[in-house]
Amino acid sequence: MRFVPIFCLRNGMICGDSLYGERGELVLARNTVLTADLILSIRKLNYNGIYVVDDISKDIPIVNTINDRVRAQTVNGLKDIFICNDKNLPVSQEKFTDMENHIETIVDEILKNKNMMVNMVDLKVFDDYTYYHSVNVAVLSIVLGTALGLDKTELCNLGFGALLHDIGKVFIDKDILNKRGPLTDDEFKQMKKHPSLGYDYLIKEFGGSLSSQLGILDHHEKFRGDGYPNDIKGEDISLFGRIISIADVYDALASDRPYRKALIPSEAIEYIMGATYTFFDPELVKVFITKIAPYPVGTCVKLSNGLIGIVTENFESYCLRPNVRVFQDGDFKVTPFEIRLADHKSLNITVIDFAEDFSNSDA
Ligand SMILES: [Fe+2]
Repeated sequence: MRFVPIFCLRNGMICGDSLYGERGELVLARNTVLTADLILSIRKLNYNGIYVVDDISKDIPIVNTINDRVRAQTVNGLKDIFICNDKNLPVSQEKFTDMENHIETIVDEILKNKNMMVNMVDLKVFDDYTYYHSVNVAVLSIVLGTALGLDKTELCNLGFGALLHDIGKVFIDKDILNKRGPLTDDEFKQMKKHPSLGYDYLIKEFGGSLSSQLGILDHHEKFRGDGYPNDIKGEDISLFGRIISIADVYDALASDRPYRKALIPSEAIEYIMGATYTFFDPELVKVFITKIAPYPVGTCVKLSNGLIGIVTENFESYCLRPNVRVFQDGDFKVTPFEIRLADHKSLNITVIDFAEDFSNSDA
């Protein structure tokens, strides 16, 4: 299978994986042949693109990080909690317990595929930022926690804290939250209260574990100090706070925001690596960059030598240097060949970005 961005989908392409709507309902079954009407409905669902299956990619398997239905249910549960708070309505204990159950399902899925790298395209299916970002932060945090050897109970606590890391923002003035330009000193002072507000909220309304609560409180602390709300440093910052801060910043950088386009994955990783020691715990960053696949299997990429191709394999030690099945001049009819970017003979070649698609092909 290969990933085709929404604007490159064409009639006759075959859907490689089932698609689910925002409430977790099936909207398109695997192997459905696309028509103009179906493409329009996929677009309306805010999908960035879908996996298709064709002759040039039928032997490339895609491993989703988490099941789309679980993700949709988690997003909807989270939305309910945010919306109730927004309207000053009480949030039932049941809603929090549902979230704990969704997180446990996500932890089980990730534990099943311990050696998998996170498919970052898979995490970018929808563009409803607030809630999907929180679920992504939870998934990235759990993946990092798994690689660090945390047990299942700890992973569930980590995921729960990560999912609710920004819950305190419901108590911040909407004009400040939605402001497009830079915040004034006073506005930033207000904004900086959201970790403590979220921490107090969780303790008062639900409880949960101390480690989840601290994850929320510490997610804007910086490894060398100068973070907020308590300006603590190094290992005085809770482990969950240190993990969530990496996941939060990476996913935010890799997402389109109203005021800027998403960074390409290599830039987002450069940023995380560049901010190691100052913002992030170096030991955690070292593990984090082995667990994400910025250019996941099945995505179409542009190489620095001008060729384009499909990623066929990723490696933990070289997350930016996958194997790529390349088509000379983008021509499907010519036998493809493989470039192994991690091979010493290919070190002068890099992935420079995602490629839109082989849109001129009729394969
Ligand atoms: Fe935050």
